[in-house]
Amino acid sequence: MVAATIIKMLMVLELLVVSTTALLDPMDFLALQSIRKSLHDVPGSSFFTTWDFTSDPCNFQGVYCESDKVIALNLGDTRAGSPGLTGRIDPAIGKLTGLTEFTMVPGRVIGKIPQTVSQLSNLRFFAVSRNYLSGEIPVGFGELRNLRTLDLSYNQLTGSIPHPIVSLSSLTNLILCHNHLTGSLPSSFSSNTLTRVDLMHNNLTGFIQPDSLPPSVQYLSLGWNKFTGPVDGLLTRLNRLNYLDLSMNRFIGFIPCVLFTYPITHLQLQRNQFIGPVQPTQQVSISTVDLSYNRLSGPVSPMLSTVQNLYLNNNRFMGSVPAEYVDRLTDGTIQTLYLQHNYLTGFRINQTADIPLSSSLCLMYNCMVPPAQSACPLKAGIEKTRPTVQCSELRG
Ligand SMILES: *[C@@H]1O[C@H](CO)[C@@H](O)[C@H](O)[C@H]1NC(C)=O
Ligand SMILES: *[C@@H]1O[C@H](CO)[C@@H](O)[C@H](O)[C@H]1NC(C)=O
Repeated sequence: MVAATIIKMLMVLELLVVSTTALLDPMDFLALQSIRKSLHDVPGSSFFTTWDFTSDPCNFQGVYCESDKVIALNLGDTRAGSPGLTGRIDPAIGKLTGLTEFTMVPGRVIGKIPQTVSQLSNLRFFAVSRNYLSGEIPVGFGELRNLRTLDLSYNQLTGSIPHPIVSLSSLTNLILCHNHLTGSLPSSFSSNTLTRVDLMHNNLTGFIQPDSLPPSVQYLSLGWNKFTGPVDGLLTRLNRLNYLDLSMNRFIGFIPCVLFTYPITHLQLQRNQFIGPVQPTQQVSISTVDLSYNRLSGPVSPMLSTVQNLYLNNNRFMGSVPAEYVDRLTDGTIQTLYLQHNYLTGFRINQTADIPLSSSLCLMYNCMVPPAQSACPLKAGIEKTRPTVQCSELRG
């Protein structure tokens, strides 16, 4: 008797459980159907095979629900080597009002990012890297108060970075690298949790205001754009940087010394128009420092001799290379020391001393005869020393 009652109760419970999980909001159900119709597996990918709309969509691969709403959509086969999806992102995505996360694996998805994303007021994470999305970044992203990560990297996006995103107070990761974006970096970002800004490889232009980015930024990559103007004010404020790449732009002015005290591992400032001396006030513990192809001058600081890979080539450095460099080269702690194409006048290395084969030293095209062990890249050319006329002019 008791057993039969318990079994009956269990059956009722089971029914309840089944009916609550199966009760996906009809709006979400229809939106998922539209999204499914606009996207397909690239041959070799088998993501949508589980998407059978006669069963509960909350059990589909990549669909996560909470009560009757879809809260996360992770589209595409995430296994390594999967060729991803093709087709387009359907504007019906905007109907998934409970969505907090939308991701798509690398693939061949084309077309625009629908403007309807502006309706996803709960969205926190949007990542569609490495597809073929084109057109402009929807301005509506700037209305998503909860947005933390926006990763649109490695697509074909054009137009400018929509200005309203500077007001997103929760924005943490802004990853727009490898697109065809133009215009300037909007200022000033109000989020005090902004940590990663990667805008590498676009066609962005203009000045970067000193207060355009908050001091919370730790990873800043603006390389391969057409930015100009000074950055000393900005860099002096960003004292939590652990990665900085400003290479291949048209930045001018001084490199602030305080930069060398930040917890940075890679400092890439090459191929700009930076001027002035580089005089860190303490021994630098950054592993790679690339300041090559600028207009830097003055002596080579002994404080940089603790850097493992140091590129100071193609500048206007003068004087004799400090003895610390010779010591660190012979004991193998320096792996790369590129000093070619400067106006250096001395490098006191003992002719019998051996530089380990694992280390590269290049001193070509300075105002001195380089030591025999010199290991230079092809680009350094074949001229061992600078014409004497250039060197005497400098001394005079
Ligand atoms: C930048 O613009 C130039 C000239 O219009 C173009 O050739 C180049 O491909 C563009 N680069 C990117 C990353 O969009
Ligand atoms: C050069 O190095 C050799 C071997 O390390 C040493 O015996 C010699 O004293 C050094 N000469 C100078 C001038 O430092």
